[in-house]
Amino acid sequence: MNNITNDIYYIGVNDHEVDLFEGQYDVPNGMAYNSYIVVDDKTAIFDTVDGRFTEQWLNNITEVLADRTPDYIIVQHMEPDHSANLKNFLTKYPETTVVGNAKTFAMIEAFFEGITIANKLEVKEGDKLSLGRHELTFVFAPMVHWPEVMFTYDSTDKVLFSADAFGKFGALDVDEDWACEARRYYFGIVGKYGMQVQNVLKKASALDIQTICPLHGPVLKEDLGYYLGLYNTWSSYGVESEGVFIAYTSVYGNTKKAAELLKEKLEAKGCPKVAIADLAREDMAESVEDAFRYGKLVIATTTYNADIFPFMKHFILDLTERNYQNRTIGIIENGSWVPAVAKTVKAMFEKSKNITWTEATVSLRSSLKTSNIAQIEALADELLK
Ligand code: FEO
Repeated sequence: MNNITNDIYYIGVNDHEVDLFEGQYDVPNGMAYNSYIVVDDKTAIFDTVDGRFTEQWLNNITEVLADRTPDYIIVQHMEPDHSANLKNFLTKYPETTVVGNAKTFAMIEAFFEGITIANKLEVKEGDKLSLGRHELTFVFAPMVHWPEVMFTYDSTDKVLFSADAFGKFGALDVDEDWACEARRYYFGIVGKYGMQVQNVLKKASALDIQTICPLHGPVLKEDLGYYLGLYNTWSSYGVESEGVFIAYTSVYGNTKKAAELLKEKLEAKGCPKVAIADLAREDMAESVEDAFRYGKLVIATTTYNADIFPFMKHFILDLTERNYQNRTIGIIENGSWVPAVAKTVKAMFEKSKNITWTEATVSLRSSLKTSNIAQIEALADELLK
């Protein structure tokens, strides 16, 4: 097993069989369910793993502890990708003390009817647990992204066990860029709860952290300011990269032509980055992360069933339910008889904070006409102002 520090071991698993993570996210490079053990006078395990890895995970524990019985199992998060093996664990180790908060224990009852917990330690915010040399402090992180979530800080080795925060998609035996899949994970799963992430980042800023041990993705040891900085930008709905994201849907390719022409114009005028996606054909979670990454968004779609095209509707709902805000949005609308996109789209963002609509709107009737070129020029100019 991998050592993270002298006394902390990685005992998680990689999953390359999962079809959709959490029932909706495509994970081309699989997923890691992390779990850790602190070995001291007393031993403590942080979280179980997904239900399809019971044997492998229990073997990982034995590999580290041999015949020792774990003293504590700390439940930082009850979502089943981390808690599914709690009952199996207690069948093997009935004497181990389960550590959680009041909400954790209510959820354990809800997930595992009739579960027997012989030893239970209910903790409150700021409570400490000594393992001998290691002292753990519980830092509650409610709604990051479930109500019972708590982080744990080991002040001896200066390690923050951060539950889902700082996690990413992807198994640990695949080498890939951290930010890309961490951003897609963050905005997909945690994005709605920016304020709650900000609250826990404030608590974390008072701690001396040298290592972050999340429940997904790699253990973070170097350049922690980079990861903390990105989490601060993401959770405050700030702009990470200068540029424009053009999200389009197109039934026969006409709206696509307008979207691509806007991309060309923006690039020719020196826009630092233009990202573009066909929402019907590309991963929706990628488009959601790009909408949050850049400061400017262009929505290009058609009127459809007296509404807008379904993939665009889905995309906008994904943004608004994640508290999309602080952005400039432009619209390219297409309608063969009554174009109604601009009105419908603006109504969908009605409750979103601090949205600036461009004055220039591109309005197509069925196909891209010469008269639309000037509208696209004007939109490009306004987006670059
Ligand atoms: Fe990784 Fe919210 O579970």
